[in-house]
Amino acid sequence: MAKTIIVSNRLPISLRHRNGKFEFKPSAGGLATGLGSIYKSGENIWIGWPGNTIEDPEQRAEIILELHELKMAPVFLSKEDVTKFYEGFSNETLWPAFHYFTQYIEYNPDHWESYKEVNRKFCDAILKKADPDDTIWVHDYQLLLLPQMLREALPEATIAFFQHIPFPSYEIMRMIPWRKELLEGVCGADLIGFHTYDDMRHFLSAVGRITGLSSESGYIQAENRIINVDSFPMGIDYGKFVKQAKSRKTQNIVKNFRNQVGDQKLILTIDRLDYSKGIPQRIHAFHDLLKDHKELHGKVSMIMIVVPSRDKVKSYKELREEIDLLVGRINAEYSTLNWVPVHYFYRSFPFEELSAFYSMSDIALVTPLRDGMNLVCKEYVASRGDQGGVLILSEMAGASKELRDAILVNPNDREGVKSAIYQGLKLDESEQKTRMASMQEVLQRYDIFQWVKVFMDRLEHVKSKQNELTSK
Ligand code: G6P
Repeated sequence: MAKTIIVSNRLPISLRHRNGKFEFKPSAGGLATGLGSIYKSGENIWIGWPGNTIEDPEQRAEIILELHELKMAPVFLSKEDVTKFYEGFSNETLWPAFHYFTQYIEYNPDHWESYKEVNRKFCDAILKKADPDDTIWVHDYQLLLLPQMLREALPEATIAFFQHIPFPSYEIMRMIPWRKELLEGVCGADLIGFHTYDDMRHFLSAVGRITGLSSESGYIQAENRIINVDSFPMGIDYGKFVKQAKSRKTQNIVKNFRNQVGDQKLILTIDRLDYSKGIPQRIHAFHDLLKDHKELHGKVSMIMIVVPSRDKVKSYKELREEIDLLVGRINAEYSTLNWVPVHYFYRSFPFEELSAFYSMSDIALVTPLRDGMNLVCKEYVASRGDQGGVLILSEMAGASKELRDAILVNPNDREGVKSAIYQGLKLDESEQKTRMASMQEVLQRYDIFQWVKVFMDRLEHVKSKQNELTSK
């Protein structure tokens, strides 16, 4: 029977080093949960990088066995691959370009070579497991060349690609010297998905202008196949956030946290360390609020959680220093003996504590400068069993297309963000409820399981349409 193979750069696991041995725990992330019903059943499997460089053949053999138990297979990357493919081409070329940070784009031919080689490594690992009629679902910008590599080796296979980050306009795409190869790489798939309609339009326009392939109504006409391109906004495991927020464990943490911070209003921000998230801009807006509204001193604090990420990449290191400096300044300027404006945490938190932060915060301030989707804002909304709380959301996040009842802001508009926070602090309870209820309805209906189902159904539809066309 044909099987399904999920592929992403990172496997959905967290890794622990214990007594000289690596131990893997399946991750509880949204995508992993949503795809759980797929990769955990039958002969299906998830293929990807375990997230560490492991050179010792014995250790590799052990890891293969351990991951096999979890229905996963590793692609091992060398230190050089990590530097050139992961930190280099993926995160110093594609990531900044796709998020419109053209000033950070590196054009390094050596990194490009490594990107091709590592995509080939993934292809080889998949070919060891795949049969000709399998379904292979490739995820994200680290593996743009993989669909076409797979197509050449397995012309009959069903291949899908989903991009989790934005797709930029043609004007940005054309800056990348290897743009044609990248686009042709993705076009090896039968179905190509993005979070938003705009991303999909940008992709189709770039394909048309750069590869010359024409498209109509979301279908690209390739030499001997059709390729469907569409938007599939990703949801979260809504029920899991509702349940956790209600749990005794989280409620006890909320009480404990509240005892520590008192009854002041709390503004929550949670991000991976990334320049696309607009963290410094947000601190500036909060600074302006405190400057203009002395009556808020001692009455409102920001809880800022930044999860460490890509810390070897220069722009990330610099960002961390900038945040340290800005938090230091605002706290130095305004703190009193019993009040700190910004509680800054540079680390990750366990799920039950995150749930407590979501449950107890009066405002979630989610203001990325660019974001493919952004799930933090969705998690906040799902965690509000009381339908209280206010979401302030950047129009530059994919999620803003769905969450129209948030207070939407332009994250570059410092004055606008400041006013939105002020408005959020004053929003009355019934208005909070109306907005929250309507956003909850959207998220509950279109959760991660529904997302997977809609995508897989479409893939099946595209494949049968293709078969119809070729048998004519
Ligand atoms: C984004 C990307 C993912 C990536 C994640 C964490 O969400 O879309 O592909 O895995 O960031 O980044 P990292 O570089 O640690 O894998």
